[in-house]
Amino acid sequence: MTPKVRKAVIPAAGLGTRFLPATKAIPKEMLPIVDVPTIQLVVEEAVRAGITDVVMVTGRNKVALVDHFDHAYELEHTLRSRGKADVADAMERISEMVRLITVRQKTPLGLGHAVLCAREAIGAEPFALLLGDDLIDNDDDPGIGQLARVYEETGAGAIAIMEVPPGREHMYGIVAGDWDDAGRLRIRQMVEKPKAGTAPSRWAIVGRYVLPPAVWPLLTDTKPGVGGEIQLTDALQGLAASDTGLYGVQVTGTRHDAGDKLGWLKANLAYALKSDELRAPLIAMLEDMVASAKKAAG
Ligand code: UTP
Repeated sequence: MTPKVRKAVIPAAGLGTRFLPATKAIPKEMLPIVDVPTIQLVVEEAVRAGITDVVMVTGRNKVALVDHFDHAYELEHTLRSRGKADVADAMERISEMVRLITVRQKTPLGLGHAVLCAREAIGAEPFALLLGDDLIDNDDDPGIGQLARVYEETGAGAIAIMEVPPGREHMYGIVAGDWDDAGRLRIRQMVEKPKAGTAPSRWAIVGRYVLPPAVWPLLTDTKPGVGGEIQLTDALQGLAASDTGLYGVQVTGTRHDAGDKLGWLKANLAYALKSDELRAPLIAMLEDMVASAKKAAG
């Protein structure tokens, strides 16, 4: 029987250069989606899928991340003394959500390297990997839980995939293989950011994975690849070639790339449109803004 997936790695040590200067002093994973930091939404997804322990890979500026998941006694006390016990309770719940370990990635040498920094903290167990700037919005069935089920059924690694529009393949890790009867893609080929016109398919990897411990030696042996970084995709090729294999799973839910400016703006709008408080005034505001922008553009 395969063990249950209880632990997760969340890398949050990238430089976040696309969001400078916002990310000069805070990690991009702390940028809010409406009023909740992106990383909290990611941790909540993991918790809803049964994860109890999170290993967060942090770099410079880790203080805000660690503080966010810790108690803030003064704040909680002040809120209570001002009659805002409900807000204080909500703050307390964040600090009790999960057991958190942080490990340091001293130099941002790539996603593969960031994951490798969590090796000792994870040990010989399967683990979930959730990118701290990627969101999969599904209130009923968290994306990472859908992958954990595939791992628990098959013993093979599982990664979330989505079909991207033609011409956008070069922005992603791309996979190709054979579809099985359960609608999963048994991955045979993986390429990180293929050059235009060379992608083997339009199935792109999105930031959710469940990986078996067999990935560790593969990651250790991975040499720097595209951009001089240690690429996770390169190590996953070894898993795909092994007997247990690697599956691509089309997870259900809305995916937002909150590590990209437009993706982050879209995520903010999508979450705000789900809010009973914000929906109506936001729609009115957007209609006004669009009408004025169109008028100004002639
Ligand atoms: P990205 O490539 O989106 O992050 O990595 P980045 O390098 O910070 O972004 P830009 O391009 O400079 O704006 C995806 C995830 O992997 C983490 C990032 O924090 C992000 O959550 N990461 C990336 C690390 O933890 N370490 C790395 O060396 C690289």
